[in-house]
Amino acid sequence: MSWLLLLLTIALVCGSAPVFADDDERYMNCMNSFDCGNIKGVGYPFSGSDRPDYCGYPGFELGCSNQDPEITIMRSTYKLLGVNIQSRTLNVSRSDYTANLCPTLLSNTSLNPNLLNYTSDHAEVTMFYGCPSPSPPALSISQFTCNINDTVMMGYFITANLSLLSGTAPSLTSYLTTCNNSVKVPALQSAIVPILDSPTVAQLLEAINQGFELVWSTNDSLCDACESSGGLCGYNRTTTAFTCYCADQPRDFECSSSPQAPSQSTSMSSFLS
Ligand SMILES: *[C@@H]1O[C@H](CO)[C@@H](O)[C@H](O)[C@H]1NC(C)=O
Ligand SMILES: *[C@@H]1O[C@H](CO)[C@@H](O)[C@H](O)[C@H]1NC(C)=O
Ligand SMILES: *[C@@H]1O[C@H](CO)[C@@H](O)[C@H](O)[C@H]1NC(C)=O
Ligand SMILES: *[C@@H]1O[C@H](CO)[C@@H](O)[C@H](O)[C@H]1NC(C)=O
Ligand SMILES: *[C@@H]1O[C@H](CO)[C@@H](O)[C@H](O)[C@H]1NC(C)=O
Ligand SMILES: *[C@@H]1O[C@H](CO)[C@@H](O)[C@H](O)[C@H]1NC(C)=O
Ligand SMILES: *[C@@H]1O[C@H](CO)[C@@H](O)[C@H](O)[C@H]1NC(C)=O
Ligand SMILES: *[C@@H]1O[C@H](CO)[C@@H](O)[C@H](O)[C@H]1NC(C)=O
Repeated sequence: MSWLLLLLTIALVCGSAPVFADDDERYMNCMNSFDCGNIKGVGYPFSGSDRPDYCGYPGFELGCSNQDPEITIMRSTYKLLGVNIQSRTLNVSRSDYTANLCPTLLSNTSLNPNLLNYTSDHAEVTMFYGCPSPSPPALSISQFTCNINDTVMMGYFITANLSLLSGTAPSLTSYLTTCNNSVKVPALQSAIVPILDSPTVAQLLEAINQGFELVWSTNDSLCDACESSGGLCGYNRTTTAFTCYCADQPRDFECSSSPQAPSQSTSMSSFLS
């Protein structure tokens, strides 16, 4: 309350009341945050909900489906479980493995390495589909059955690295390589531990739905400079360049001055007159 009065006082002393209605539309829009379900207050580099695309970096468009936040990474949809802007991390889970291990479209998890990377808490589960009968005596692998496209197929999942497994169980490895398809799904190392004790489909689904953590790499120094000059970070998809949305107009890097500074008032009043 008191800082609002202070702002008003400064504005009056400088001779120009803040005319928010005349602020740049993009600046106004990028002030909004992404809010969906229990994920709230998310800003740059993300866009989505009330934040138009130009408020975020390409590849960071968020969606909201029945109050479930989601993100599309390399054309696959993931549930968004958490975002931490400070540590530049997000938790996501494969939305095609929410209920069972049998999605119609089998796809690996792939990331754009220029934008996203796994954090150190990273393990991988591999699921094999369409494996021939008879199978060798099961070892540390677990079997499941899928009916995909009206075809019943036998599958196995392993939490070990197949190339490591080839040293200890070569016959198992050569068997698994004869399966028709395989899918790799990331998981948190900590979520994998219970599967080692109890390799059931239910345990695996629980681990997959806990998601995995990713860290993003965007050019923060540009955004830091923009924000400290009073601007809001964004990206112009036409010029494919970072943009700093200032109250009066977008600029390449930073606002020429803070919103209350004299030069700003001058340009604002000349604009108004
Ligand atoms: C992601 O999940 C891990 C494990 O539950 C948690 O420690 C971390 O804080 C989460 N990160 C985010 C960005 O939500
Ligand atoms: C199921 O059918 C769809 C559509 O023809 C196809 O794209 C998909 O790859 C099939 N899934 C499997 C596991 O064969
Ligand atoms: C997933 O990647 C493995 C290699 O890492 C490949 O053999 C397999 O065919 C891929 N699966 C799909 C569904 O593309
Ligand atoms: C991804 O992270 C790993 C370590 O966690 C690191 O070795 C690798 O260089 C990173 N990749 C990129 C593209 O930053
Ligand atoms: C592997 O795929 C081929 C071609 O779709 C199919 O004929 C065969 O039955 C599949 N193998 C198994 C074990 O499901
Ligand atoms: C699996 O092992 C191979 C060879 O040792 C290694 O290059 C790869 O990074 C490992 N993958 C994982 C997920 O640990
Ligand atoms: C960061 O800047 C470098 C060099 O200007 C550019 O190649 C890269 O694509 C940028 N990455 C992101 C995520 O903005
Ligand atoms: C992107 O740049 C073009 C060309 O400079 C400009 O016309 C357009 O208004 C800009 N868009 C945004 C959202 O800043």
